[in-house]
Amino acid sequence: MLNQKIPVITIDGPGGTGKGTIGMRLAQHLGWHFLDSGMLYRAVAKQALQKNLPLDDAAQLICLIAELPIEFRADGDGVETQVYLDGENQTDQLRTEACGNAASKIAALSEVRDALLDLQRSYRKLPGLVTDGRDMGTIIFPDAPCKIFLTAKPEVRAQRRYHQLKNKGLDASLSGLLNEIVARDQRDQNRHVAPLQPALDAITLDTSDDSVDEVFAKVLRIVDKALALS
Ligand code: DC
Repeated sequence: MLNQKIPVITIDGPGGTGKGTIGMRLAQHLGWHFLDSGMLYRAVAKQALQKNLPLDDAAQLICLIAELPIEFRADGDGVETQVYLDGENQTDQLRTEACGNAASKIAALSEVRDALLDLQRSYRKLPGLVTDGRDMGTIIFPDAPCKIFLTAKPEVRAQRRYHQLKNKGLDASLSGLLNEIVARDQRDQNRHVAPLQPALDAITLDTSDDSVDEVFAKVLRIVDKALALS
């Protein structure tokens, strides 16, 4: 079967809008594969930080990508995909704000984005792929039959992140998180390559006032309609 014929559902948007939670739940519901593309950027950034590489050194970052020892595994309760680097579960370390910010910096380099293209597309496998990120619908899978763009007010996203961290027993400052979210949005939206924006054929949902169950129900309606038409 042509790779192009394997269905893809793209869920793009800024951090804290519920893309990951909704995407994972949707993949489980459909029995499809799931790709959290932000984890690829986070993994490269983490390795660069560990090796003390400057985050704007495209040549060295590309070398890291060529040998990126990343593996996604549906471990434990199977609710959250675990990310392994060099055979070690690094999911929590990769989810830190430090890794997210570093990821956002390296993600602004066109060489880094180009080097991650084939790897991202290699996750397109039968029976289908649900993927979350910033440019899944615009650049990586422009032919996807179903594209969703999630948004939410920065204050709401900061609150969600704050509760996530507190629930994990980690220290957090609400105002600090809000500042970081706004700064990261600006960098992701204003970069020259693949800026964060909805694809022209994406359906945008504002999740500010909805619970996860409500967003999931809306997403399912969009998906059912799109897949029936494709
Ligand atoms: O979704 P996330 O917070 O894990 O992503 C971390 C950073 O990686 C984000 O600030 C921008 C970058 N990113 C990107 O540029 N393109 C993607 N498809 C996914 C993430």
